[in-house]
Amino acid sequence: MLQKITDLLQEVSSISVKNSEELELFRLKYLSKKGLISDLFEDFKDVPGSQKKEIGQKLNLLKQSALKKFNLLKTELQNQDEKTDIDFSRPAFPYNLGSRHPISIVRNELIDIFTRIGFTVSEGPEIEDDDHVFTKLNFAPEHPARDMQDTFYISRLSLEDSNPEDILLRTHTSSVQVRVMQNQKPPIRTISPGRVFRNEAISARAHCIFHQIEGLYIDENVSYADLRQTLLFFARELFGKETKIRLRPSYFPFTEPSAEMDVSCKICGGKGCNVCKHTGWLEILGCGMVHPNVLEACNIDSKKYTGFAFGMGIERAAMLKYGVNDLRLYFENDLRFLDQFKSAF
Ligand code: DAH
Repeated sequence: MLQKITDLLQEVSSISVKNSEELELFRLKYLSKKGLISDLFEDFKDVPGSQKKEIGQKLNLLKQSALKKFNLLKTELQNQDEKTDIDFSRPAFPYNLGSRHPISIVRNELIDIFTRIGFTVSEGPEIEDDDHVFTKLNFAPEHPARDMQDTFYISRLSLEDSNPEDILLRTHTSSVQVRVMQNQKPPIRTISPGRVFRNEAISARAHCIFHQIEGLYIDENVSYADLRQTLLFFARELFGKETKIRLRPSYFPFTEPSAEMDVSCKICGGKGCNVCKHTGWLEILGCGMVHPNVLEACNIDSKKYTGFAFGMGIERAAMLKYGVNDLRLYFENDLRFLDQFKSAF
């Protein structure tokens, strides 16, 4: 019997299997209830007492070895399966990449352009008071922009007259100019991106919520030429090196002189098309030299300092850049629209 056990030990240790069927045969042959090792345990009952210890130990050793071998073969087979299961030629699962919203893309690009020439970024509250949105910006008390038609009021002291303490949703980011001038000393060079609110019917060209970016530069000897060159630089960075600009006289209470800026139409290169209504030009922003009244209202000496300001709609800039003709698309978040901006950053 000892010989039989030694032979089986040898046999078990030298066995190898190629697949799970062979592994099962191994188990049946050696480890099952009707297997060879069970048979030996059966025979063990008849072994004379004097040999029981030696044979018993050997027999246990054989059982352990067979079990060990079985487990070893099993893990070997599993590892093999894992290796062969991987199909390297299979196409990868598509990654569903998100994209930034076009308004964020253009806002970031504007911030990038202006910070390159020394502008900082500042922000102010969306819920503002009349003082910062209108009064300190030189709006006359009866100015139509303060009207309920345009402004969402949160609390109003009197329905007939506007009051610097009235609380409202800012109608433009020019209010941040005031906050910056009140809190900083010149030189000031800052842009203020943010959301603005106007009580307007929603259409392809107007929305009650939109985004603006405001620019402000205050120092000694800041001139209209500085304004023009800054805006030319910006227009060429955003719309391309060939872009031309033109400044048309305009009116804003907080700037004097004031202007509106057009950029040459990107679609037709200035020749005239549907987008530019055959003028070759597209209006992009309002700007001007900061009115001395505004400087004084913010405690800046208007004899010593001058400055320029500009403000533009980010939706408008994005429309011109991407040729989008309906403002509502920016707010509907239709994936068919948003997906098209995946390649932008
Ligand atoms: N705040 C103006 C608006 O909402 C835009 C604007 C015009 C801003 C001229 C300026 C400026 O700073 O100088 O229509």
